[in-house]
Amino acid sequence: MSEYIIETQNLNFSYSKSNRDIEELNLQVPKGSIYGFLGPNGSGKSTSIRLLLGLLKKESGTITLFGNTFENNRIETLSKIGALIENPSLYGHLNAIDNLRIAANYKSIDKSRIDEVLEIVKLTYAKNKKVAKYSLGMKQRLGIATALLSNPEILILDEPTNGLDPKGIIEMRALIKTLNENYGTTIFISSHLLSEIEKTCSHVGIIRNGKMLFQNTVKALKKSQSDTVAIDIETSDSRRLKSVIAPLCIDTETIDMSLTSIILNSKDEISALIDEIRKEGIDIYQITIKNNLEDLFLTLTEK
Ligand SMILES: Nc1ncnc2c1ncn2[C@@H]1O[C@H](COP(=O)(O)OP(=O)(O)O)[C@@H](O)[C@H]1O
Ligand SMILES: [Mg+2]
Repeated sequence: MSEYIIETQNLNFSYSKSNRDIEELNLQVPKGSIYGFLGPNGSGKSTSIRLLLGLLKKESGTITLFGNTFENNRIETLSKIGALIENPSLYGHLNAIDNLRIAANYKSIDKSRIDEVLEIVKLTYAKNKKVAKYSLGMKQRLGIATALLSNPEILILDEPTNGLDPKGIIEMRALIKTLNENYGTTIFISSHLLSEIEKTCSHVGIIRNGKMLFQNTVKALKKSQSDTVAIDIETSDSRRLKSVIAPLCIDTETIDMSLTSIILNSKDEISALIDEIRKEGIDIYQITIKNNLEDLFLTLTEK
């Protein structure tokens, strides 16, 4: 059996003939991980999740869940997955207990589990309150409680911190960690914010325009970032600068007449770069070294 709880191979999908929305996607989600699926808006995160859940029909490629291809054991497979995509469908005029009773009924799950899931998502104190009076964060947690009723092996959350206030975000992070550490649940979570993924996840896959750009541990992502260095440089002539420095850089991007973004292999190369620019008689007005993960994310996804 595969070590991956979710695996896709060369997954392709298009909403229309003119565009390919998911392209040759190879997802590998290790069992027991908190996997962050990171990408800007419109990159294909929700589409990928819908494909994984069988809500959209793939064009080609394979999807393997729990070591089985999806087509073989659809019902059994789905019963081992808890998912929260978009806003949870809850009845505002009912309290949390009644909402969970309805969901448990629908899924034929024993009601004894209700107290347990309320405890996990820390809503026991508010279990008799009408859901309409809940904050968005509480509603999201109740949505997760619903998904947890079936005691799933993996929980798939599509941008669960979207729209939450800082307190709600912190509570959501804590819940994700608890589920993973104390209950052994594998978590697949999408986000457009690197900072979010970095704080919560063990693994990361970065998607842009439906293609996977990077997939590894968060540790490896940080390491690859600590080696390279991103620089913004303001000079008298961006155009000439580009031709002068291109051989020295991993990547250059002309922002405007004076501003250029550069990626170098290491900090050690900055002096050589400056020497080369000065030798060409180009004036340097300002240099900004940007060396955090957010910049790497920008270089990976925003171009
Ligand atoms: N129902 C749909 N019909 C047609 N195109 C869609 C539909 N949903 C999403 N798209 C397009 O597919 C691409 C990926 O969207 P989506 O998966 O929602 O991205 P993300 O979740 O990363 O923001 C986008 O270009 C989006 O416009
Ligand atoms: Mg989305």
